[in-house]
Amino acid sequence: MTDARVCDYILRCAKAEKETQKLTERLQALVTGSLDCLENEDVNDKEFLNLLNENKKLKYRINILKKSIEAAGGDAGSSNTDDFGSHMCNIMGQLEKIFTKAVLSAYPEAVSPMIQIQLSKHADYQCNAAMSLAKSLKKNPREVGQQVLKNVAPNPLISNLELSGPGFINIVLSKDFIRQQVTNLILTGVTPPPATPVQVVVDFSSPNIAKEMHVGHLRSTIIGDSIARLLEFLGHKVLRLNHLGDWGTQFGMLIAHLQDTFPNFATEPPPIADLQKFYKESKKRFDEDEEFKKRAYEAVVKLQAYEPLHKKGWEEICEISRKEFMKVYERLQIRIIDRGESFYQERMVKLVKELNDAGLLEEDDGRKVMFGEGTDVPLTVVKSDGGFTYDTSDMACLKHRIDEEKADWIVYVTDAGQSQHFKSFLACAKKAGFYNDVKTRVDHVTFGVVLGEDKKKFKTRSGDTVRLIDLLNEGLQRSEEKLKEKDRHTVLSPEEFEKARDAVAYGCIKYADLCHDRSRDYIFSFDRMLDFRGNTAAYLLYALTRIRSIIRTAGVKPEEIEAEAKKGAIALEHEKEWKLARTILKLPDVLVQITQDLYLHPLCEFLYEVSTVFTEFYDNCYCVEKDQSGNIVKINMNRILLCEATAQIMEKCFSILGITTVGKM
Ligand code: ARG
Repeated sequence: MTDARVCDYILRCAKAEKETQKLTERLQALVTGSLDCLENEDVNDKEFLNLLNENKKLKYRINILKKSIEAAGGDAGSSNTDDFGSHMCNIMGQLEKIFTKAVLSAYPEAVSPMIQIQLSKHADYQCNAAMSLAKSLKKNPREVGQQVLKNVAPNPLISNLELSGPGFINIVLSKDFIRQQVTNLILTGVTPPPATPVQVVVDFSSPNIAKEMHVGHLRSTIIGDSIARLLEFLGHKVLRLNHLGDWGTQFGMLIAHLQDTFPNFATEPPPIADLQKFYKESKKRFDEDEEFKKRAYEAVVKLQAYEPLHKKGWEEICEISRKEFMKVYERLQIRIIDRGESFYQERMVKLVKELNDAGLLEEDDGRKVMFGEGTDVPLTVVKSDGGFTYDTSDMACLKHRIDEEKADWIVYVTDAGQSQHFKSFLACAKKAGFYNDVKTRVDHVTFGVVLGEDKKKFKTRSGDTVRLIDLLNEGLQRSEEKLKEKDRHTVLSPEEFEKARDAVAYGCIKYADLCHDRSRDYIFSFDRMLDFRGNTAAYLLYALTRIRSIIRTAGVKPEEIEAEAKKGAIALEHEKEWKLARTILKLPDVLVQITQDLYLHPLCEFLYEVSTVFTEFYDNCYCVEKDQSGNIVKINMNRILLCEATAQIMEKCFSILGITTVGKM
C-alpha cells in the first residue's frame, strides 16, 4: 500500500470515528430518554436507525482497513489505480476512490463524503457528488462540481471529465485503459478485484438428521454454495459448515425405537431403507405410549452422557441420513464439512454455566431464559427437563466460531422464518460479551418460500414434501427430453449428450433459484427454467457454447490467442466492440456490489446482459468471413480475442454460481 493511500485511510478512519462518536452520543440520548439534544434536529427515528446501520457497516469497514494497513506494514503492496498487480480493476469502485480523494482535497472539511458513481447516458459514468456536497457546505453545486473536477488527480482510467447541468461530472473512460484491461484479461484470465482477505464461516444447507431434506434446504444449499464460491474467488479463507440438526430430544425416541426394531444394531448396521418412515413410526409411539416416552427421555440423558451403546445407535442413524444428504451434494457438486449441533454439547454445558454465573439467565416456568437488548422474544437456554435447545447450540456455536475459528465474518443461510431466532441469539451473544458487531461481521442471509406452479407451498400431488433426489431425477429427465426435442442427441456423442443433460438439469435448478431476489418467494417450474429463451441457464449455457464454437470454427488455437494478445493492447474500433469490452469489464464492480449485501441475482442479470451485448456485437461485427462455398477467407483476430474474453467472463460467472459449463450442447 502506498503512503498516500495509508494517509487517505487514516484520514477516513479518523473522520468515520468522529462520526461514530457523534452517533453514539445521540444513541445514548435516545436510549436514556434525554431526547432534548434531538429536539432541534430534523431527524426521524427511521433515518436515525438507517444512520446507525450505516455507521455499523462503516465501523466494520474501518476495522478491516486497519487490519489491511497492519498486514501491509503501512507501505508494502499496492492496489493503486495504476497498479493492480494480479487484480482486475473494479472501475466504479476505483472511480469512487478517485473522486473521494478529489472531494477531500477540494473540501477537507467534508465529513466522510459518500461518493456514488453512476452509469451515464452522456458519457461512460457520472459523479453526482457535488449536489449533496453543495447542500451540506451551503455552496453553489456547479461551483462545487468545478472545484472537485479540478482536484481529480491524474490517473490512467479517465480520459476526459466534463461539468454538465447543475453540477454533474461526466466521466469518459480512457480507451487505452480499457484495451489494456481486456488484453490482461485474456492473458491472465479473470482475476478478482482487490480485497483484504478475511476468515469467513459460511453456514449453509444444514438439514436435520432423520428428517426430510426439503426444498428450503435446497435453497440454502444453492445460495450458500454460491456465496462461498464468491468469497473464495475474492481470496477469503472460507470454512463451509453444515450445521446439521443432529442433537436434541428427538434422538431419544429414535434410539429407543431402534433398540426395539433392530436389537443387533451395535454389531449389524440397521437396514433402514426409509429413515423418514422410521422417524414417523417412533414419533407415533412417543405420542401414544407413555412407557415408550419415558424410555425415550432416558435415552436422551444417556446419549448426552455419551453412554457407548446409545452413542452407537445415534451414530448409525446419523450415518444413514448423511448418506442420503451426500447423494444430493454429489449431484450438485457441493463441498461442505459436517459440523452439527452435537459438536457443541460440551461447549453448551460450559457456556450455560458462564451465563448462569454472570446472572444473565432468568427462571421462567422451569425454563432458563435470556433476554437480549432490543428483543422481546427470549432465548430458551435450558428447557424445563434440563435439555438444551436450538438457541443454546447457536450461542455456543457462535462463540466457537469467533473465539476458536477466529472468524472475521460469519454468514448464515436459512429461510426468513428464522429471523427472530437469529436476532435473539445475536443480541444475547452481544450481551454476554463474546460477540461484537464491530469486530465480527454477521450476515443472516434469508430467503423466501419455494412455491409450486399453483402458487401454493411446493408439495407432491399427494401433498407430501418433495424428496430432493426425486426432484433432481425429474430435472434430469426433463432436461433430456428438452435436448432431444432440439435434436441434440443426433449431433452430440453419447458422452457429450450426457454432460450437456446434467449441466442443463442442475444448472437450471440452481440458476432459477439464484436469479431471483432471494428474499422473495419463488415459483418452481421446470418448464420455465428449461426454456431456451430469456434469462435461464439453458439459454446462457447455450450462448456460451456458441461463443466457443465461433473460436473453434475459426480454427484459432489457445496459443495463437495468447500470442496475438501479447503483441499489444487489443484494438476496439467498432462501436459494438467497445460496448462489449466495457460490459464485460463491469464484472469486478458487480462482484464488489454483491459482496456487500450477498444478493446474487445482480450477477445473473450481469451474465444475461453480457450474452445480449455479445449477440449485438456478433450481429454487427464479422468475426470469421466465409465465401459462398463456406471457405474461410478472413479471420478478424481482434474479434476472436474479444470472443475469448467474453467466454472467460461468462465461465467465471457460471463458476461463482456453481454451474458446470460444457463445450458443446
Ligand atoms: N437445521 C436448521 C433447519 O433445518 C438450520 C440450521 C442453520 N444454521 C444455524 N446455525 N442455525 O432449519
